[in-house]
Amino acid sequence: MLHKQTVKDINVTGKTVLVRTMLNVPIDDDGSVGDKKRLESAVPTLQYLLEQGAALVLMSHHSHEGQSLAVVAPVIAELLGCDVAFADDCLGEATTAKVQALRPGQVLMLENLRFHPEEEANDEAFAKQLASYGELYVNDDFTTCHREHASMVGVPKFLPAVAGLSVETEVNTITAALDNPKRPLIAVSGGAKISTKVPIISFLLQKVDALMIGGAMANTFLAAEGLQVGKSLIEDDEFEIARNVMDTAKANNKTVLLPVDVVVTSDIDAHQNVRVVATNEVGEDDIIVDIGPASVGQLKQIVDPKGTVIWNGPMGIAEDEVYDDGTLGVAQVIIESGAYSIVGGGDTADFIDGAGLADKFGFVSNGGGASLELMSGNTLPAIDVLLDKTS
Ligand code: 3PG
Repeated sequence: MLHKQTVKDINVTGKTVLVRTMLNVPIDDDGSVGDKKRLESAVPTLQYLLEQGAALVLMSHHSHEGQSLAVVAPVIAELLGCDVAFADDCLGEATTAKVQALRPGQVLMLENLRFHPEEEANDEAFAKQLASYGELYVNDDFTTCHREHASMVGVPKFLPAVAGLSVETEVNTITAALDNPKRPLIAVSGGAKISTKVPIISFLLQKVDALMIGGAMANTFLAAEGLQVGKSLIEDDEFEIARNVMDTAKANNKTVLLPVDVVVTSDIDAHQNVRVVATNEVGEDDIIVDIGPASVGQLKQIVDPKGTVIWNGPMGIAEDEVYDDGTLGVAQVIIESGAYSIVGGGDTADFIDGAGLADKFGFVSNGGGASLELMSGNTLPAIDVLLDKTS
């Protein structure tokens, strides 16, 4: 549960509110905004603040170096149904003048904060300057809550700081699924690197009834069990950890599903000799690129319509459609099971978006790294600094 104040807990009427919002969206080759999901999630907070009679200064980053946010302003304007002015630098006299001219109901968007290195350096003077634009601060960018950047953790030192509605929904949905789930709770964890997934796997093991492991990460588990994985991507310095995970699961009566069959190839790019083999039949020259149908079938056997599934990470090289059957199969099993489902953001969310399946899941997080942190049992620095519910 989010134990922080939100926009609903404060009086914003007539105030200028500085909103750290979620404008880091995919940009298509023609320079226009691609998937608008994050922007749609940003709207309820902005709409609420406008309805309450606030003036809004929107600030955000874009991850791609040099990417202007000017292209996002008209999209937000359309979603809000009002004009959104744009300041082509988040600093400077012209920007300060635009902020000062704002009236209730008006919206000003600032240029990409990361055009200034002070943002990522969490520079105090920079944060103070940003804070001078508003009387209240709202953090509604869940996707960036794991970053200790000036607009995330610096500004709240200078302004009363509360959470936006998207942050509230993300935190409450993910933590409720972990702390008070409909059982059985099953976690499906994929992706490439076991080393980055150890915290989440270890934490999830304490919470779940069963854990399914896929993706290149599963190769390391298979190899640690002594199976031949050919030329597949593995982390041989992580065998010990993989064995520990299996031992801990066993000691705690938790089911861990490793792939029983896999898709292999002899050349990833050329799609040579692609076939499904049992995990004990992987050849010396084979490269594992996906889980096989029997592995997907294992999940089907344990998912329960009354339960919950938390899914993070693709099951193979899902960005290549020759190798995406396992990931697609897992998506379909989860959807068809009728279980309540939560999908962590990042690659998994991109995949199900691309497959047109996003609306079939219970909740798809906007955040990649941030949702991983929460699912690893960690707090998020940009949420820690917000005003507590009781204060
Ligand atoms: C995200 O897309 O995960 C967030 O917006 C953070 O972006 P970053 O990874 O560039 O810090």
